[in-house]
Amino acid sequence: MAAVTAAAVSLSSPSASKASPSSPSPTFFSYRSRTRGASIRAQVSTTDTSAVEAADSKPKKVSKKQDEGVVTNTYRPKDPYVGKCLLNTKITGDDAPGETWHMVFSTEGKVQYREGQSIGIIADGVDKNGKPHKIRLYSIASSALGDLGDSQTVSLCVKRLVYTNDQGEIVKGVCSNFLCDLKPGADVKITGPVGKEMLMPKDPNATIIMLATGTGIAPFRSFLWKMFFEKHDDYKFNGLGWLFLGVPTSSSLLYQDEFDKMKQKAPENFRVDYAVSREQTNAQGEKMYIQTRMAEYKEELWELLKKDNTYVYMCGLKGMEKGIDDIMVSLAANDGTPYF
Ligand SMILES: Cc1cc2nc3c(=O)[nH]c(=O)nc-3n(C[C@H](O)[C@H](O)[C@H](O)COP(=O)(O)OP(=O)(O)OC[C@H]3O[C@@H](n4cnc5c(N)ncnc54)[C@H](O)[C@@H]3O)c2cc1C
Ligand SMILES: NC(=O)c1ccc[n+]([C@@H]2O[C@H](COP(=O)([O-])OP(=O)(O)OC[C@H]3O[C@@H](n4cnc5c(N)ncnc54)[C@H](OP(=O)(O)O)[C@@H]3O)[C@@H](O)[C@H]2O)c1
Repeated sequence: MAAVTAAAVSLSSPSASKASPSSPSPTFFSYRSRTRGASIRAQVSTTDTSAVEAADSKPKKVSKKQDEGVVTNTYRPKDPYVGKCLLNTKITGDDAPGETWHMVFSTEGKVQYREGQSIGIIADGVDKNGKPHKIRLYSIASSALGDLGDSQTVSLCVKRLVYTNDQGEIVKGVCSNFLCDLKPGADVKITGPVGKEMLMPKDPNATIIMLATGTGIAPFRSFLWKMFFEKHDDYKFNGLGWLFLGVPTSSSLLYQDEFDKMKQKAPENFRVDYAVSREQTNAQGEKMYIQTRMAEYKEELWELLKKDNTYVYMCGLKGMEKGIDDIMVSLAANDGTPYF
């Protein structure tokens, strides 16, 4: 069964990492460079630890993420915002294994959110105990301006869950089927927004490496619209965005036309590489998973990962975490850097 993974990782400089006893422990990459005689830790953190080092007494936290004014939980399950479905469209081909839909809901600007956050959805109807359905979380797939550019909508990218249980019965997931079946004009109960872990880096010159499987693309579509399709007075992206997207078949590729446009607009600033697991293999004939594709660029990736302003974000299947961890081990080993 597919599990969920979402992590944002920023690589701190050696000096920064020394002074961060209170930083959250790393949940994904962690490596130590003995060659430099100092530890380098990649961690899930919004704290600029070099600022911590400079402070004498009480550490002053300076965020590296775009987190000023970020709001959470404006709407709670007991009193959700009720939006309207404006658009709902299947974005995978008819022969794809499974259906993924892109949907846009009205918010009247009341559900304000930031790129990288999620919202909760309460499906209509009741569960087997006659109680209202519990919320399910979905990563927001639109930038804060929304697909219509007026800050009045929020979009999702949802895979319809259908599976066969041990008794051989076909079971449909409650909320994903509710969402994928929504018709324009229908009401939808929204909670949140939630989450501050996946916010974008502040640095407009950052390198942002995005690792997605399937609908794990959602937060990265949100980032990429802000980076390449929008104009902001306080943010003009001039770094490198590098997206790796893993899907089962070419008919399951998500938002490929948008990524093509981004490449045309900003060829120096955007790269995208796909891993189509059921159609492609590597030179050894192995299935092309996202980590298999990343391995083709390992020298380049390792150089980028060593920079202070490189941020790695990962979202999608839980299973990808181990594969990506393994690739990091081999990257580090190539550099004579033990990885643990
Ligand atoms: C932070 C976060 C963000 C997320 N973002 C997205 C997103 O952007 N897009 C998206 O599509 N999803 C996303 N999800 C997943 C989403 O929240 C739901 O879990 C998903 O849509 C399934 O919900 P459901 O109500 O349709 O299924 P449910 O009715 O809740 O059924 C799910 C349950 O079915 C069972 N099950 C599932 N598959 C099988 C199987 N093969 N065999 C046996 N039992 C099985 C498991 O018990 C599982 O818990 C996200 C989850 C989190 C935590
Ligand atoms: N914020 C979040 O936490 C968040 C947001 C969005 C989505 N999600 C989760 O992300 C998942 C996406 O699933 P999906 O059904 O949309 O994806 P999907 O369309 O099935 O695509 C997943 C891809 O990953 C491949 N894959 C399978 N195992 C892998 C592994 N160990 N390492 C690397 N790649 C692997 C699959 O290959 P094969 O099938 O060919 O083996 C397939 O190509 C869902 O579980 C969803 O809940 C989480």
